[in-house]
Amino acid sequence: MVSLKSSPSITPENPLFSASQPDVPGEFAFHGEDFERVRALLKQHTGISLSEAKRSMVYSRLARRLRANGVTSFRAYLDALRHGKPEWEHFVNALTTNLTYFYREAHHFQILAEHFKRRARPGEVLQVWCAAASTGEEAWTIALTAAETFATLAPPVHILATDLDTSVIDTARRGVYRGEQVARIPEGPLRRHFVHEAPDLYRVRPELRALVTFRQLNLLGADWAVRGPLDAVFCRNVLIYFDRATQLQVVERMAPLLRPGGLLFVGHSEHFSHGQRVFSLQGKTVYVRN
Ligand SMILES: C[S@@+](CC[C@H](N)C(=O)[O-])C[C@H]1O[C@@H](n2cnc3c(N)ncnc32)[C@H](O)[C@@H]1O
Repeated sequence: MVSLKSSPSITPENPLFSASQPDVPGEFAFHGEDFERVRALLKQHTGISLSEAKRSMVYSRLARRLRANGVTSFRAYLDALRHGKPEWEHFVNALTTNLTYFYREAHHFQILAEHFKRRARPGEVLQVWCAAASTGEEAWTIALTAAETFATLAPPVHILATDLDTSVIDTARRGVYRGEQVARIPEGPLRRHFVHEAPDLYRVRPELRALVTFRQLNLLGADWAVRGPLDAVFCRNVLIYFDRATQLQVVERMAPLLRPGGLLFVGHSEHFSHGQRVFSLQGKTVYVRN
């Protein structure tokens, strides 16, 4: 924040800012080269590939950061941005897309329930990694599925829930949702696993919370620090933001963490025929580790 405030601003002598019209009209000049810098930084550090069509989205999301930092141009903001500094986290958080909801692609949770039943062994805890957990609905749905499948508040399941974006992970960890957010949860599980604290406020019960560990993790990071063997991985609606080479790298890194017979769940539009040396397609967007 401090370094950004002291960074240089637009001057009439600066040809980059004075010569051409901004590409996106608005409060701050936003030129093609600014957009290219944003794209390159994001791609390099997070794997997220932004298409040309995302110019306006990038402008509106980062304009808030420029205002918060008191800088007057995208160029100055990007000049001051350094990987590892506090503003970096805001930059990344601002550019992620976090849409998620309870029981998204509901057929996955039926398959997961069957998988839990088949793999349960006395004294063993089944391990699941939810690798792009966003605001938590996916991880809590996995926890609900476990509790309902084993008909206990303490099922033999542990869920590691991670995401690149630190703000969504905080929300996920809080486990508090509005009525419209929990509307997809059937009445029984909702009553059993949430405390209805206020007319429009539902809080995940402590027993369910005990099943999930949340932490920040970049799928492009060198060390995931995820311990296998895992029984299932949910990596849904995140690969879609990566190019094909990055998708393959991520999926191939996940494979050795899964037990043979373990399941990889991906999003409805994420197919990877190129990953089928290690995985076989088991059903719609569900892969089994060979
Ligand atoms: C659209 S949400 C999907 C949430 C959930 N998996 C679902 O299917 O409902 C995509 C999530 O991927 C996360 N993400 C993007 N790039 C990532 C990366 N390199 N490492 C980890 N998470 C990432 C974003 O922060 C975002 O929360």
